[in-house]
Amino acid sequence: MIIETTNLNKTFKQAVKKPGLAGALKHLVSQEYVSKEAVKDINFSINEGEAVAYVGPNGAGKSTTIKMMTGILHPTSGKIQVCGIEPYKKRMENAKNIGVVFGQRTQLWWDIPIRETYALLKDIYEIPEQIYKDQLDMLVTLLEMEEFLYLPARKLSLGQRMRADLAASLIHKPKILYLDEPTIGLDIVIKKKIRTFLKELNQNSRTTILLTTHDLEDIEDICERIVIIDKGSLIYDGNLQEVKDTYAKKRAITIEATTKISDANQRLAAYPELEYEMLENNNGIKIYFDRFEYRATMLLNLFSQDYDILDFKIDEPKIESVIMKMYTGKL
Ligand SMILES: Nc1ncnc2c1ncn2[C@@H]1O[C@H](COP(=O)(O)OP(=O)(O)OP(=O)(O)O)[C@@H](O)[C@H]1O
Ligand SMILES: [Mg+2]
Repeated sequence: MIIETTNLNKTFKQAVKKPGLAGALKHLVSQEYVSKEAVKDINFSINEGEAVAYVGPNGAGKSTTIKMMTGILHPTSGKIQVCGIEPYKKRMENAKNIGVVFGQRTQLWWDIPIRETYALLKDIYEIPEQIYKDQLDMLVTLLEMEEFLYLPARKLSLGQRMRADLAASLIHKPKILYLDEPTIGLDIVIKKKIRTFLKELNQNSRTTILLTTHDLEDIEDICERIVIIDKGSLIYDGNLQEVKDTYAKKRAITIEATTKISDANQRLAAYPELEYEMLENNNGIKIYFDRFEYRATMLLNLFSQDYDILDFKIDEPKIESVIMKMYTGKL
């Protein structure tokens, strides 16, 4: 077991501020607090080499859990062990075993060339020269960083910065990589590159990955196991395919044609259970279907023979709606 949590809890004290001037003054003298149970009795263990998605709606407690795993926060009660140690008690020792990427902020020095950030990390982690050189070369090649390696972080685009942050988190070859929304705000092409990189990292170097994201496709490309939390509590821990088979059956295909589609009714007459809606101008149609009952290509073919198809896309359910369905038990 490389990561293990036992009845893990984190409660924050949140200050309550009274409105108005009296409130502002009162704020100075007698502060009132409410407790916020951000993480409640969470138990799970992760084996070396696994890639696990850690998901849940906003405020579920995901980042709080990751911060406890990195040692930034200490648990209110319960226990967390990473590579056999309790992170907050031995932060530096823990740091050597882990890499962390918070998509929302960077760990790169803002004003110096990122190449220099890596050199500083080499010293911090006491990485031997040859290992450092090989690892940096490998990361620069795989993450296609040649053209911006000598720019300061503040001059990088978001996609470049995210790759530079990934490299920074991996320069010391950690056993575990924590990723907190690593693809947030990125375009499809860069997202895809990052996903492929992470999948290969997990498979080739057996790096253990714990990934937080709101993007179901990130999870599908990288993880087989999914742990879902909501309001601080664990609500599911298991195989991703099972979740999808049970709760994410519905997909939607949107087909756009160069001309108006006027006979959708007839074309879909043989499939009365399919729901659909026409797009604005009737130049397209969106059809909802069960992934086990229908193939997207079959639905496309119903139109592509007689219409000139401009574009089509398939929407997968969002992880948020999957979680809602888990609660209500609906399909
Ligand atoms: N330092 C803090 N002090 C007080 N409350 C906090 C603190 N950090 C987090 N919280 C609260 O704990 C809860 C969980 O927050 P957390 O950041 O872990 O959620 P999350 O699952 O990462 O959400 P998101 O998807 O929006 O990033 C929230 O209600 C948040 O307001
Ligand atoms: Mg978060």
